Amino acid sequence: MCGIVGGISKKNITPVLINGLKKLEYRGYDSAGIVTLCKNNKLNRARAVGKVVNLEKRIKDKKTPMDGTIGIAHTRWATHGEPSSRNAHPHICNHSVSVVHNGIIENFLELKATQEADGYIFTSDTDTEVIGHAIHQYLQDSESLLEATQKAILTFKGAYGIGVISPKDPGHIIATRSGSPLVIGISNKGNFIASDQMALLDITKDFIYLLEGDIADITLDSVTIYDKDGNQVEREIKTSKLKSGQVSKRGYDHYMLKEIFEQPQAIRDTLESRITKDSVLLSAFGYKAEDIFKNTKHIQIIACGTSYNAGLVGKYWLEDIAKISTHIEVASEYRYRNPIILDNTLFITISQSGETADTLEALKALKKRSKGKNIHTLTICNSAESSLTRESELTFLTHAGPEIGVASTKAFTTQLVSLALLSVVMGRCHKQVSKQQEAKIVDGLNRLPGLIKQTLKQEDQIKELAKTFKDKFNALFIGRGTMHAIAMEGALKLKEISYIHAEAFPAGELKHGPIALIDKDTPVIAIAPNDRLLDKLKSNLQEVNSRGSQMIVFEDEAAKITPMKGMTIVPTTTDLGRITAPIIFTIPLQLLSYHVALIKGTNIDQPRNLAKSVTVE
Ligand code: F6R
Repeated sequence: MCGIVGGISKKNITPVLINGLKKLEYRGYDSAGIVTLCKNNKLNRARAVGKVVNLEKRIKDKKTPMDGTIGIAHTRWATHGEPSSRNAHPHICNHSVSVVHNGIIENFLELKATQEADGYIFTSDTDTEVIGHAIHQYLQDSESLLEATQKAILTFKGAYGIGVISPKDPGHIIATRSGSPLVIGISNKGNFIASDQMALLDITKDFIYLLEGDIADITLDSVTIYDKDGNQVEREIKTSKLKSGQVSKRGYDHYMLKEIFEQPQAIRDTLESRITKDSVLLSAFGYKAEDIFKNTKHIQIIACGTSYNAGLVGKYWLEDIAKISTHIEVASEYRYRNPIILDNTLFITISQSGETADTLEALKALKKRSKGKNIHTLTICNSAESSLTRESELTFLTHAGPEIGVASTKAFTTQLVSLALLSVVMGRCHKQVSKQQEAKIVDGLNRLPGLIKQTLKQEDQIKELAKTFKDKFNALFIGRGTMHAIAMEGALKLKEISYIHAEAFPAGELKHGPIALIDKDTPVIAIAPNDRLLDKLKSNLQEVNSRGSQMIVFEDEAAKITPMKGMTIVPTTTDLGRITAPIIFTIPLQLLSYHVALIKGTNIDQPRNLAKSVTVE
């Protein structure tokens, strides 16, 4: 989704901003732009539709060099207004205020009407322009850009991360956030801002993470922060453990493929220091976890997309292993409902980024609604310094490492591992898990990296199978129990990167409607673990087969599916348990969608219309 980079340095800021924008490309965008305050104290702007390389060309072609030492830049993912140069950020008001903005100003139509009446001219269809105009208006009777911005943000409703510069107050960048992330990078080369620390890792590892409502006045050698009430505050400088090299493809053609192959290590990292040889450490969930888990009577999971699919598997495990009633809902629905909130509910949010607006707002809304009730919150998240970790009482980090491919892979499997660990400790707190059961689950988790490595060896076979999808427009995924959730994840992966319409159904539900979709042009992908529902699944496969569909069945070797006409059986490793099976069956589905997308020639790491971190509603 949209990305912000800005900075003030001793040297020309343009290369830093362009490099930062490139580091943010993975988040998804459709145009990019930059403004620097040049040596002549004038704002100099370049904008381009498409990739950052197009912007670089624009900069080279410019008559006035972009030679300023202070500037702001942006990658835009269109919300209000089509992707075009005129809608790309930064926006400039009356040659004197330039802004970049992530988020949505919800009352922009109202503000626009007033500003138009005051004579302001709008040159784009974006909501962002009202920010520049508002700051410009307040600048007329303010002593500084900081003061004008402080006054302006009081008029905004919605979510924002904003960077502002002005020739009227040169030498300052003002940065503020509410609902959208923004970090300040501190270095002896200058001070910088970004919506994602990834953009600045080549320059610094030292970051200040602005809190909700904070506003920062940044100069070459100082950073002064005020909280939402205008009080000057100190915010800790934290050193990031991320390495800039982690954000490279390391020889793979795509980030997605690299991340699929990183899963054995990612899972090892998730397990590290969280288990002993035969048990799960409760302390891994934080020192308050024992009390909270012992008193938990209900669980409500809230998440979006792939993280929601992980949560669905978690629901099965939490009810099966810990015997605690567990509900799950997509965050975009939960946040606007009036759900009944019961005492002693543990709310679990799951998120790779920790910044998904729907999940974050759902969490904030439920906290407000449950005032006076005894509820607790836990986030399972891949980003330590994220809005979700700040909003949650307990945090469990997935330790997947940076995930750059828009289609989530290693974040998903590490979320599953985290949910498995949670199910065990929750079960132990409720005396539902014996020592032997726990040791068996831990053993399964420990075997996962090896099992995944083995499964990854099937890549060549899956590459061949992918050819089946060359001219297909639809596909169905089926599974039962936790495999229904895995089928959903398989369908989501296929649709988002290959643009093939794919749906997933519980196999037993086919006969209630979806079976009407089956024809020879609609491949059916089935997941067949060797579990207690195997015979039921076998009947479902017969039902599909007798309707002439092409079928691909990923089976546990021990499932011994009877070969049928038009059916390709891909045996995976055998002896999978209720925890290991969903994780292992995810791998061939990831590889399948990757290779179908490769054949289709889509932009695998940045599929059309999608963003890595969805920070708007
Ligand atoms: C799909 C995908 C998305 C995300 C969803 C939630 O591959 O990545 O569906 O899972 O946007 O994102 P997070 O997990 O960051 O909250």
